[in-house]
Amino acid sequence: MILPNLAIIGAQWGDEGKGKITDYLDETADLVVRFQGGNNAGHTITVGERVFKLHSLPSGVVRKGNLAVIGNGVVMNVDDLLEEMEQVLSAGGSLEGLRISDRAHLIFNYHKKLDGAEEKYRGSDAVGTTKKGIGPAYQDKIARIGVRAGDLLDDELLKEKVDFILPYKKDLMSMLDAEVCGCECGMLLDKMRKWREKIGGYICDTSVLINEALDNGKKVLFEGAQGAMLDIDHGTYPYVTSSATCGGGICTGAGIAPKRIEKVVGCLKAYTTRVGEGPFVTELHGKEADALQKKGGEFGVTTGRGRRCGWLDLVVAEHASRMCGFTSFAITKLDVLNDYDELPVCVAYKIDGKETKYFPASISKLERAEPVYKTMKGWKGWNDTASVVKGGYGALPKEMRTYIEFIENHMNVPADIISIGPDRADTIDRKKNWWV
Ligand code: IMP
Repeated sequence: MILPNLAIIGAQWGDEGKGKITDYLDETADLVVRFQGGNNAGHTITVGERVFKLHSLPSGVVRKGNLAVIGNGVVMNVDDLLEEMEQVLSAGGSLEGLRISDRAHLIFNYHKKLDGAEEKYRGSDAVGTTKKGIGPAYQDKIARIGVRAGDLLDDELLKEKVDFILPYKKDLMSMLDAEVCGCECGMLLDKMRKWREKIGGYICDTSVLINEALDNGKKVLFEGAQGAMLDIDHGTYPYVTSSATCGGGICTGAGIAPKRIEKVVGCLKAYTTRVGEGPFVTELHGKEADALQKKGGEFGVTTGRGRRCGWLDLVVAEHASRMCGFTSFAITKLDVLNDYDELPVCVAYKIDGKETKYFPASISKLERAEPVYKTMKGWKGWNDTASVVKGGYGALPKEMRTYIEFIENHMNVPADIISIGPDRADTIDRKKNWWV
């Protein structure tokens, strides 16, 4: 039986425009599930006049009638989540469909302080994290000392955990010369009891919910955060985030079996960006980089940091596709590339004189890698996006279609969605029925 489910995963280093694509596809979904990451993610969703900036909430929460699930693989900063919930409510949205996994781990202030201190300790080897406490929260999960959302419902267990964890964290913070966290056991417990009042009603076993939805033929959309190249195993380690961002992360982070995943949409920006440190073979520098950054509005939703920019890298996209099993691409921000005379696309790396199409694990090899480019012809832009969208794929400039088809042929993955502007409406959908 074909299950009507769909996953969306970033094919680069995040910020590929997944929020918009998820929002476009979840129009017809019954359930939207976040399965990893935390409030290090940032989605800007434009619905008519309203702009939502979401970090922890699944994009689907914006749409009434959807169930929006924060899965067990997510780490959650409850104070930030509450602010986002307020934002949605004050914009006239609804939280009726929100569900939070009882197995999702919580981020505390001490995680944030430790994130900053660890980065400082690394000095020139700093990862360039979002300083949201993501890494330290996942460290606690793996070390088996994390606090989970479900623990909020058990006062005795909470007290036991806080009494054990807080002195330990304080020792660690003083060892690392971290900023003072200012939390005491009693204060933290009071805070968590307030969290329970506000979010306790949303907490449940979301794995059961998702599996039952799949059994009943509901349309389930799995929404990835960050991108494949930031995966803890398959990304540019150690310049990665601390979660499993690739296809396998859906199973562990949502609590479903591998055989239940049907289709995976790779969200591929028409050029490349990354935030923070780490190798980036097709990176541009100087005026060219600044121009692309400005044209693409490449500034982080979460940190406001300027994103590093460069040309499209198909060595990266192929690596991501191997790890995620893309069945479609959604190519985004093609309009940002309007009016270039030429567009280089990287098809291989040259490392120590040898050409390869495989993305190496070694950071030092990546630092020595030179991009091998195929140069494509650029295209002129248009004045009226609505009429281009109305005209469909054939109405796109010929050179843009050649660029898209080059990617499709090279990757052997169809570009089923073409995004040529930030609004939900600025989208050409070549597949239409996503759920069969
Ligand atoms: P962390 O996730 O805050 O630990 O940061 C680790 C790395 O992942 C840093 O390079 C961040 O800039 C990057 N990162 C984390 N979340 C995102 C995201 O949503 N988009 C792009 N980069 C991200």
